[in-house]
Amino acid sequence: MNGPVTIKNDSTMVDIKEIGIIGAGQMGSGIAHVASLAGYTVKMIDIDQGQLTKAVATIQRNMDRQVNREKISAGDRDAAMGRITTGTDYGPLSNADLVIEAATENEETKRKIFQALCPTLRPDALIATNTSSISITRLASTTDRPHKFIGLHFMNPVPVMDLVELIRGIATDVPTFEAVKAVAVALGKTPAVSEDFPAFIVNRILLPMVNEAIYTLYEGVGSVEAIDTSMKLGARHPMGPLELADFIGLDTCLAIMQVLYEGLADSKYRPCPLLVKYVEAGWLGKKSGRGFYDYSGETPVPTR
Ligand code: CAA
Repeated sequence: MNGPVTIKNDSTMVDIKEIGIIGAGQMGSGIAHVASLAGYTVKMIDIDQGQLTKAVATIQRNMDRQVNREKISAGDRDAAMGRITTGTDYGPLSNADLVIEAATENEETKRKIFQALCPTLRPDALIATNTSSISITRLASTTDRPHKFIGLHFMNPVPVMDLVELIRGIATDVPTFEAVKAVAVALGKTPAVSEDFPAFIVNRILLPMVNEAIYTLYEGVGSVEAIDTSMKLGARHPMGPLELADFIGLDTCLAIMQVLYEGLADSKYRPCPLLVKYVEAGWLGKKSGRGFYDYSGETPVPTR
């Protein structure tokens, strides 16, 4: 009989105080929000200064809302905002203990980021990716530290949603897993561990439902309003699936369906042609002002 399995472990536990965040979109800004409120020093990096300015304004607005609803004090908000700085290159990350990549859901983009980022980091710094679907093992292999690389997948809106998925790549070591899990808990989140399979747990289940809702629209079974009302009132979902698709971003929805379709090689994950068409049109949902709803007015108006 074999003895107990020992896991080779060549890292020491990193005490995480400073967190770098790459990408100042809706996920990056949400992560910066919760990390700064939890007391971490946050360096938010994006190639686009305009995006950084927008992200800081969004974080300020969302924290103001939390102050008004007495979830946090004005002092907490001001201290947290004071812990966030921004930059347009990776220089400010030279002393980061953990970097969380939250760039666009595109493997090539992420690969380029990791290649440019790694030489700037301390050798003992950890890297997490907020990818919602791409293989952690494959992304880890594009870095100089696959054993210090992990998936840390937040849900949108980050300040509100309680879950994070933790995904180990084949090389991720135990101290990295434990340190990043401890950060997730410090951010007030409940971690769920997923194996490194396409789209992990939440999106493996959620996105085919969203894609099916788009097929339901495409085939003329119901209007946007009928589909969303049905799932809100008939299944008690907080948002209808088409409203949720717009909220996630139709480009992200399509990218996740493509990863499922290609990664699992099963036709049941085929992205709906209407989703493809919307993305080709640049109708990406809430962030672009139009998707299954038109967001140009006071209240969103269904487009079909
Ligand atoms: N920052 C901080 N607080 C926020 C916020 C934000 N960005 N957005 C909403 N809130 C807070 C509000 O202040 C409010 O707080 P109180 O409970 O203290 O009043 C609370 O959240 C509810 O907000 P609202 O009253 O404005 O609106 P709502 O009741 O319609 O809820 C919602 C909004 C929380 C987004 C809700 O509609 C919901 O849960 N939707 C489903 C979201 C979802 O499924 N997310 C997962 C997407 S999948 C994903 O993210 C994975 C991926 O990779 C694609």
